[in-house]
Amino acid sequence: MMRKRISKHEHEGTSGCRAPRERRMRYVVFGLALAACSAAGCHGSPEVAEFAGSYPRRVSANGTVREFQLIAAPSTVSLFDGRSFDAWAYNGQVPGPTLRVRLGDTVRVRFTNRLPQATTIHWHGVRVPNAMDGVPGVTQAPVQPGEKFTYEFTPKDAGTFWFHPHLRSSEQVERGLFGALIVEDATPPPYSRDELWILDDWLLTREGTLFADFNTRHDLAHDGRWGNVVTVNGRTNGRLLVRPGERIRLRLVNVANGRVFVPDFSGLAARVIAVDGLYTARPIDLAGFEMAPGNRVDLDLTIPTSAAGKRLTVADRFTRQAIPLAEISVEGDPVSTPEFESPARAHVPGWQRPESATPVRAKFSLNAQSGGPFGIQWTINGAAMEHAAHAMPEHPQHLPIGEFSRLRFVNESYRLHPMHIHGLFFKVLARNGVPVNEAHFRDTVLIHAQETVDIGTVPEDAGRWMLHCHILEHAESGMMTVIEVD
Ligand code: C2O
Ligand code: CU
Repeated sequence: MMRKRISKHEHEGTSGCRAPRERRMRYVVFGLALAACSAAGCHGSPEVAEFAGSYPRRVSANGTVREFQLIAAPSTVSLFDGRSFDAWAYNGQVPGPTLRVRLGDTVRVRFTNRLPQATTIHWHGVRVPNAMDGVPGVTQAPVQPGEKFTYEFTPKDAGTFWFHPHLRSSEQVERGLFGALIVEDATPPPYSRDELWILDDWLLTREGTLFADFNTRHDLAHDGRWGNVVTVNGRTNGRLLVRPGERIRLRLVNVANGRVFVPDFSGLAARVIAVDGLYTARPIDLAGFEMAPGNRVDLDLTIPTSAAGKRLTVADRFTRQAIPLAEISVEGDPVSTPEFESPARAHVPGWQRPESATPVRAKFSLNAQSGGPFGIQWTINGAAMEHAAHAMPEHPQHLPIGEFSRLRFVNESYRLHPMHIHGLFFKVLARNGVPVNEAHFRDTVLIHAQETVDIGTVPEDAGRWMLHCHILEHAESGMMTVIEVD
């Protein structure tokens, strides 16, 4: 069961996922008025006009409050092939409980910290009021051992999201603190079923316990902590039993500290209908899609009747040697396949104007230097944020609300950096100066060695939002900053 750690050089040769060029924009919108301007104003820019109707500025709560209790505590859980393991868990489960609500529901989470450390909960990808974002020192005080905190928000977007601590996260997430938040559409599409696969890896000792040194020099000098055991929903022997003909919505979440996954469904036609929660403009092919830490992908998977009796291995192909993730076992009598148009019909702006027409508002250079508590610091524009000390950066980057911003990441290093921004979605505009037109928004984009990536965004939610690398060791050692939207 134990696998050798995979060194970085074996990653070479994997290419970024390039969505095929869009033929023409589609202006089909789900239950949204295609307003020409947001409430924040129009500002006359063609990008803002194109953005209108992409995702709602505000949501109308339907009056239902869904209340959940979450308790974080050291727990002995059953993991891997079913053996017991000392983890830190939400409600004694790894993964934590799946919080499943409908769009319009208000989520209220009564949280208790029974860990030996302070913590918070961040709702990854969810556009929450800033005070509910769970960032210590920026949006709230850390929740100390024994303390409680109530999170309450009404998600503005349906989709696949997740939650995790935002304090010492390289340790806390690795120990088992993560769970999914699924916001169903007000009227969910009629899939035969809706499944969730949480992808993770674990670095275990020979004895099978968690390797308890965090933020090692090795992790910091590489792409964070990569485990030697890969799990789906905490299992190394995960199996999805399906019947021929079923049409499944399969939600994938990458909660690993550093590992990137490129899932391969061994010949099954897996169509991507959502990325990072939001629907794509049209279904896209999964092949080669790089799921970096933090990323989610929703798949529309039809099991052909020809697969009856088969066992299909789903494998990760990011590394040179494929790693089995889980098995899909097709058994039983065929069922009739639900026929409906895939929900991937979101309005996604093209934003294909050249850089000369949309100049870069802010540039973020990504690099490392020696120093700091771990000996190596990862920096954004030369500065390492002291997140554990809850120190706000002196000059947060300002982004005007309701206006288009082109932002640039310049990776001056040879490591991977999945850059994540809280409180907004963005679209990739260019890689190394070459225009890219992905058919979807994101909240996290993987930036390869020495790569320059331009993104575009129209922030709609005011607040102080984190921008950071989602390789948790890179973030912990400084690769974080704050942007101020107002
Ligand atoms: Cu999933 Cu700031 O993180
Ligand atoms: Cu990084």
